[in-house]
Amino acid sequence: MTNLQSTYLGLTLKHPLIAGASPLSHEIGGIRQLEDGGAAAIVLASLFEEQLSHEAAALDHFLTQGAESYQEAVTYFPEPDSFFSGPDEYLDHIRKAKAAVGVPVIASLNGASAGGWVTFAQSIEEAGADALELNIYYLPTDPMMTSQVVEQMYVDVVAAVAGRVGIPVAVKIGSQFSAPVNLAKRLVDAGARGLVLFNRFYQPDIDLEELEVKPHLVLSTSYDSRLLLRWIALMYGRIQADLAATGGVHTVEDALKMVMAGASAVQMASALLRQGRVNRCPRPR
Ligand SMILES: Cc1cc2nc3c(=O)[nH]c(=O)nc-3n(C[C@H](O)[C@H](O)[C@H](O)COP(=O)(O)O)c2cc1C
Repeated sequence: MTNLQSTYLGLTLKHPLIAGASPLSHEIGGIRQLEDGGAAAIVLASLFEEQLSHEAAALDHFLTQGAESYQEAVTYFPEPDSFFSGPDEYLDHIRKAKAAVGVPVIASLNGASAGGWVTFAQSIEEAGADALELNIYYLPTDPMMTSQVVEQMYVDVVAAVAGRVGIPVAVKIGSQFSAPVNLAKRLVDAGARGLVLFNRFYQPDIDLEELEVKPHLVLSTSYDSRLLLRWIALMYGRIQADLAATGGVHTVEDALKMVMAGASAVQMASALLRQGRVNRCPRPR
């Protein structure tokens, strides 16, 4: 039989297909289903940075910065606490996930500042996660903020976290950078062992009936994979880190192309959500 084994973040995977962060990994039952369905590793749904603090006043700056009020800003984002109530529940979830499945379990943190993440990343390691995916999500709205400042913030977060944990750290970034390959190199120099390309953001929409801004979640299609196919191919061999594809992988052919372009791991979320059962998930369109 053909050997499909892959190495991602130093972890041996029986094949490159893994479950990307999504509500499917929010319940232990879902995690078991993902393993039974053949996922070679499972990325847990993220804990959002602002959930590290229970104080509403300390809600993460990326929600409030540049907006006139918190209430207004938050309508552009999905409810961050829709998956986990807080850090303790997340750590418990990691322990239970590790006990439930034999495949590697990758924890995921979503946010933009080093702050509380550093200590919490150590707790994630102690809870038994095999690796950590940092989904760095920052919306620069300040007209005076340059791209250098934004990128340096990404680099600082990675350096702070990767320097403090023994488990491998992968960084999930969006596609909208003026020099993605240079940023990728700097993230790897800061300690990232892997890059997850690319995060898909919720795009806000306006509900004309309710006259409200609503987060608009649209599941991907295979066509979306073209964007990352190009960048994975461009980074492969130039960036000394494992590359994971996320975005628009729905068919065997989509996955094969990612591996051909240079991906060590191929993540799936929308395809699994479309086929599987989803609990506590914003209804996709
Ligand atoms: C309902 C839903 C929930 C998601 N939750 C997370 C999350 O908690 N953390 C994260 O990093 N990505 C999250 N994602 C993004 C996916 O992991 C993935 O990167 C993105 O959907 C692109 O891959 P796909 O085309 O296979 O869906 C979520 C995606 C969906 C559709």
